[in-house]
Amino acid sequence: MLSKISQLREEAMAAIAEADSQERLDKVRVQYLGKKGELTALLRGLGQVDPQQRPVIGQAVNSLRADLEQALADKGAVLAEQEQAARLAKEKIDITLPGRRPQIGTFHPLTIVLREIQEIFLGMGYEVAEGPEVETDYYNFEALNIPAEHPARDMWDTLYTAGNTLLRTHTSPVQVRTMERMQPQVPIKIIAPGRVYRRDALDASHSPVFNQVEGLVVDRGITFADLKGTLVLFVQKMFGKDRQVRFRPSFFPFTEPSAEVDVSCIVCNGAGCRLCSQTGWLEILGAGSVHPRVLEMSGYDPTVYSGFAFGLGVDRIALLKYGIDDIRHLYENNWSFLKQFRTE
Ligand code: FA5
Repeated sequence: MLSKISQLREEAMAAIAEADSQERLDKVRVQYLGKKGELTALLRGLGQVDPQQRPVIGQAVNSLRADLEQALADKGAVLAEQEQAARLAKEKIDITLPGRRPQIGTFHPLTIVLREIQEIFLGMGYEVAEGPEVETDYYNFEALNIPAEHPARDMWDTLYTAGNTLLRTHTSPVQVRTMERMQPQVPIKIIAPGRVYRRDALDASHSPVFNQVEGLVVDRGITFADLKGTLVLFVQKMFGKDRQVRFRPSFFPFTEPSAEVDVSCIVCNGAGCRLCSQTGWLEILGAGSVHPRVLEMSGYDPTVYSGFAFGLGVDRIALLKYGIDDIRHLYENNWSFLKQFRTE
């Protein structure tokens, strides 16, 4: 009987050593220690053993059971560890792989420049006013001292939607709308950003749809010097102090005297190119002292009040700010172009 026990020990220990998975180990456990297992069978047979030998054999069986349980537990722990290591190796992720950046949009260069223009003027105490893109003949022309048949209308041809309504050719109608709304109060100090339309042929610096920011200041004692100081400060803030600027005398029916302002061309550095029509300069705005007749028509006595006004070409400012050599880039929705203008 004792030799059978030691044979069983050898067999069981070998089976435990050989088991290479938790599943196999469980089978070994059942084979030896289960209800119908070999060790259990041995214990059952204990009744037939000589009563004198019974304690010795009983002890040997119990110590074998204890040893097997220990061996099974040890091997179980080893296998569990191995299995976990194998699983971890399989599930390993390479955290050094760069992540995929979600594609986020960017602000359009016109939006960026428009916001910058607004920042500059809000900082000087201006408020933002708005007017409709579909405008009446009265606000777009008549009230700006451009009566029917006036030759200045040729500079601003546009689409007429019906009778006296048209797509506005500039943001200047907002000057009139603002004065009508405010009169007789002063001071007026507004900017009016917005889209405008013209029958202009498309080229590097002209688009039939573009953006302007109108400016209007009305108060007692406003002079052309105030206008010049304001515009020089604006250009310096927008383009830096080293950029060349020039004022040219000009004509607008709604301002007297009138001027246009040019900034040196960023693309050719003043040498002359397609963008600046070989002149070395690009015109960014028209301006002047508000014409007395315009003040009068909108309810302000020109013997008491005076003012200045300007109209900035936002698209041109964007071209000069970023060195874009053709206005068409601003309207083509080309992602390789637009993605360069990240603001973050
Ligand atoms: C005007 O539109 C006047 N209303 C400006 C003004 C306002 C003068 C207040 C006096 C007082 P002008 O047509 O020059 O003026 O246009 C103003 C600016 O808009 C130009 O200097 C230029 O920068 C821009 N601009 C004009 N036409 C186009 C175009 N087709 N495409 C892009 N920008 C243009």
